[in-house]
Amino acid sequence: MIPKETIQDIFEAARIEEVVGDFVQLKKRGSNLLGLCPFHNEKTPSFTVSSAKGIFKCFGCGKAGNSVNFIMEHEKYSYPEALKYLANKYHIVVEEQEPSPEDKIADTERENLFSIHSFAQKFYTDFMMTTEEGKAIGHTYFLERGFRADIIQKFHLGFAPLAWDSFTKSAITHGYKEELLVTSGLTINKESKLYDRFRERVMFPIHNLTGKVIGFGGRILISDKTKPKYVNSPESEIYNKSKSLYGIFFARGAIVAKDNCLLVEGYTDVISLHQAGIENVVSSSGTSLTTEQIRLISKFTKNITILYDGDPAGIKASFRGIDMILEQGMNVRIVLFPDGEDPDSYARKHRSSDVEAFIATAADDFIAFKTRLLLSETNNDPIKKAGLIHEIIQSISLIADPIIRSLYIKECAGIMSMGEQTLLNELNRLLRKKVLKGHSSDASREREEGVVDQPIFEIEQEPILKADDCSAQELDVIRLLLLYGEKTIDYVHQTSPNKEETTNMTIAQLICNDIRANQVSFDDPVYQEIFEAYAKGVDENDVPDDKLFFQHANQKVSSYAIDIITPRYELSPGWEEFRITVPQEEQRLQEVSLRAVLSLLHRRLTMLITSNQKELKELSDDSEEWADHLSRDIFLKQARNEISKRLGRILNN
Ligand code: CTP
Ligand code: MN
Repeated sequence: MIPKETIQDIFEAARIEEVVGDFVQLKKRGSNLLGLCPFHNEKTPSFTVSSAKGIFKCFGCGKAGNSVNFIMEHEKYSYPEALKYLANKYHIVVEEQEPSPEDKIADTERENLFSIHSFAQKFYTDFMMTTEEGKAIGHTYFLERGFRADIIQKFHLGFAPLAWDSFTKSAITHGYKEELLVTSGLTINKESKLYDRFRERVMFPIHNLTGKVIGFGGRILISDKTKPKYVNSPESEIYNKSKSLYGIFFARGAIVAKDNCLLVEGYTDVISLHQAGIENVVSSSGTSLTTEQIRLISKFTKNITILYDGDPAGIKASFRGIDMILEQGMNVRIVLFPDGEDPDSYARKHRSSDVEAFIATAADDFIAFKTRLLLSETNNDPIKKAGLIHEIIQSISLIADPIIRSLYIKECAGIMSMGEQTLLNELNRLLRKKVLKGHSSDASREREEGVVDQPIFEIEQEPILKADDCSAQELDVIRLLLLYGEKTIDYVHQTSPNKEETTNMTIAQLICNDIRANQVSFDDPVYQEIFEAYAKGVDENDVPDDKLFFQHANQKVSSYAIDIITPRYELSPGWEEFRITVPQEEQRLQEVSLRAVLSLLHRRLTMLITSNQKELKELSDDSEEWADHLSRDIFLKQARNEISKRLGRILNN
């Protein structure tokens, strides 16, 4: 554990231009620095570093962050690793805090689990390579499948003996505790008898990102309908199925080098492709990809190629999952194997160079693939075709990059022989709907792209405000605090019908006081943390600098802050021009801030009214509670009316 104070020291010492400068050649451009982005291929520099803000931002691929984020991303380091790297660079001594007793117990438990898995892997491998039973059954199986000796060794394959408890006995003789064996899942305790989970199966160890064994898959040798084909390790402190990918340790280097990750179904597909010299391949082990697995891949590349052996029905079932990959900003391509072939069988039948060539030529972009597949099923029926548009546009709307989206629109219009405008209209409709749903990240994205050219949260749009969260409104308030918190304005307010008073105050004061007067808190804990920092600053007459948040020790806070602010810069190609192109907001800060606060209040009240009314409906109308709810309903509506009036005054000014 690195102490908070040291983290703060590191952030303060790290000069973004120096940190980035170690990896990227930077040239001065106005008050910023510019270079070629290290995270994507580009010929014209669009990677911008702001020394003043302590952040970087690439206008090509959209990556942004502070010094620590840069090192994490560039060197694939964890947060503490990146901090230590920077501490070392700036000669800051890191005295790690003694972990708490609970930390220590958790650490030892993990260590012990790693240890027993490493022992088990060696046990199964040794058994297969050195005993008569292992050689005759396990090793022969792999050789007959065509696995080469070096590949069997590389993947640490093994064989679990027929006997009930060979492994458990051996582990106990080697000093492993019974309790650990059971928590690891390698041993099963049934009616106080211990026996091995894996018996008479060939063993595929599952490695984590750093190459440690965290679990196993055991394949049956013969086809036996009464038994599962695979027995897999249960989840444990070190093995989380939805976060692990089979083969990632062996693939990570090749994924970066090829800037592409192949995704296959099973253990044997991964191994056969490796044997054919194709190493950028992982498997989600027979299940559909989870968000965490996608994030893991996206540390190494933004490109996924899914290799399918299924029939169209099976592939269609996976479309939803693929949408999720698009949503994470990744590019997805699809390879469909010829009838009856899977990557494993194909790789065994063809020369390595042919396999690679096949994957390269057969890879079809997902959107085009989906369009063709669905289109082939409509038989040119216009009604079915109309339904298809919605399906396709739904996928396209998930892509963050507007340029890529418009390319897809073009391509799909071509495939479906349809006007581009029809597709564009549908796309805009979907995008707008998403913004109104108030998905915070989407909302900022849309604003950045100018899809929504009007203030979204007008009072006339009452029905839309019925949605059940305030995240978009919360985001807007936080955004204004971060962007303009320190700015002072002459706040003009009416004290009586014909008297106006002017007070000089900061935007932070204006916003924080209004929010606190109305006793509103933020649903999003990170927003709440940022808000509290500003509120504290207002009380102490020291409004925090946005830099403080960019470099915040809580990673969530810093990434939110950077996320929130940088889209504003993207309205124009450089940060310089930003000041010229978006002057309106800055000149109308009082109005804009008040509107943001009031919109949040309005939305919050609407939510309260809705939930109160829902409860009201369920109460019988002679109960005391019913009366309470009714008066609450009246009170809330009055409050909302007040807010509406204030909002109306601002809007009509
Ligand atoms: N799987 C599983 N449990 C099963 C069947 C499959 O966990 N009962 C997972 C395994 O990770 C397997 C993947 O789904 O690797 C794909 O299944 P399948 O194609 O049936 O297995 P392969 O490993 O490809 O085995 P083989 O090539 O020998 O058929
Ligand atoms: Mn298979």
